[in-house]
Amino acid sequence: MLSVVGLSFAALLLTVGALTLESNRAEYDYYKYHPMDEISSWMVQMEKDHPDMVTMVDYGRTYEKRTISLLKIGLKTEAKKKAVWMDCGIHAREWIAPAFCQYFVRQILHAYKTDDKMAAMLTNMDFYITPVLNIDGYIFSWKDSSTRLWRKNRSPGPSGDCYGVDLNRNFDANWGTVGVSSNCSSNIYCGTGPISEPEAQAVAYFVGSRKEDFLCFLTIHSYGQLLLIPYGHPNFTASNYDELMTVGQGAAEAIWRVHGKKYTVGTSPDVLYANSGSSRDWARLQEIPLTFTFELRDNGTYGFELPEDQIQPTCEEAYSGALHIIAYAHDKTFNGAAAAAAATLWAVLLAAGVSGANLM
Ligand SMILES: *[C@@H]1O[C@H](CO)[C@@H](O)[C@H](O)[C@H]1NC(C)=O
Ligand SMILES: *[C@@H]1O[C@H](CO)[C@@H](O)[C@H](O)[C@H]1NC(C)=O
Ligand SMILES: *[C@@H]1O[C@H](CO)[C@@H](O)[C@H](O)[C@H]1NC(C)=O
Ligand SMILES: [Zn+2]
Repeated sequence: MLSVVGLSFAALLLTVGALTLESNRAEYDYYKYHPMDEISSWMVQMEKDHPDMVTMVDYGRTYEKRTISLLKIGLKTEAKKKAVWMDCGIHAREWIAPAFCQYFVRQILHAYKTDDKMAAMLTNMDFYITPVLNIDGYIFSWKDSSTRLWRKNRSPGPSGDCYGVDLNRNFDANWGTVGVSSNCSSNIYCGTGPISEPEAQAVAYFVGSRKEDFLCFLTIHSYGQLLLIPYGHPNFTASNYDELMTVGQGAAEAIWRVHGKKYTVGTSPDVLYANSGSSRDWARLQEIPLTFTFELRDNGTYGFELPEDQIQPTCEEAYSGALHIIAYAHDKTFNGAAAAAAATLWAVLLAAGVSGANLM
């Protein structure tokens, strides 16, 4: 009798424990903007909740000495994997971007359990996702209403009376030539030299050291409803321009199908403005074939201050667009039969109760 009571008590504790865990998880609201400390805790929680899939990797330090981290997501296998890059929040005020990266992580971690295609992609590729790259700037944009529209990082300029480099003008890609300012007070100040900034260095060193692994490089911004392809400099054309346009058009159509929003595809000079030193251009110059800048909603009505009730639809449509590009990159490298076989194997192992950690 006693042991039965003990057993039920233990079962009760387990149930309560599971419920508590469940309700803690449910508390994270993906359809609100979160300050940096909440995003950092969320990253730690993702790794705890999915130890077989998620690894947090520290890969740099901001000017103000904060650690820059990404989530590496994939099924752990012995095979050498390809990779997908996604960064959000290189520009501080574009709050929808970090919200999207978090949504994207949650979606792929749900999807692979039931979706063979996602399982195959996570078997063959690791996703490297940085929810907030410009952490100092993001925190500054949360300070008060006067700093809400801060764009750059927070390093002091040469004369000390101005702050911030536009990190998306600081990469080593026709640096300092077009669409930049050398005035530190400017929002498009490109810094004192290519990758002068620690946040840009972090990306350049991390991606650069394994560039042959990356099939695609997606950098998420707002606003404008655009999918931008290389290059920002008007006098250079990507060798796979036609492919980039076709894949971009496919992504725009995938986006349109979700909530009917129109996204325009093209090079920056063709559909927005010429610029130099962007991370997208740098990644393409590293021979990463599929590099895109996403400019999420909206088209200017609210601009950078996109209302929270648009987070969900914006993320849903952008997810569809991003997956179009990622699936294309995947299928081009891993032929359909092999990918399908991997997915089937996964489904069989899953049905047999074998954990992903033991795969291959
Ligand atoms: C730099 O930009 C600021 C703000 O636009 C302006 O007041 C200042 O005169 C500029 N400095 C130079 C050297 O052009
Ligand atoms: C592009 O090339 C043309 C012709 O050589 C030149 O006049 C122009 O300045 C170049 N544009 C830029 C932004 O360098
Ligand atoms: C922006 O989007 C709104 C809502 O979809 C639409 O009514 C408006 O015409 C658009 N404006 C421009 C400039 O495209
Ligand atoms: Zn931006």
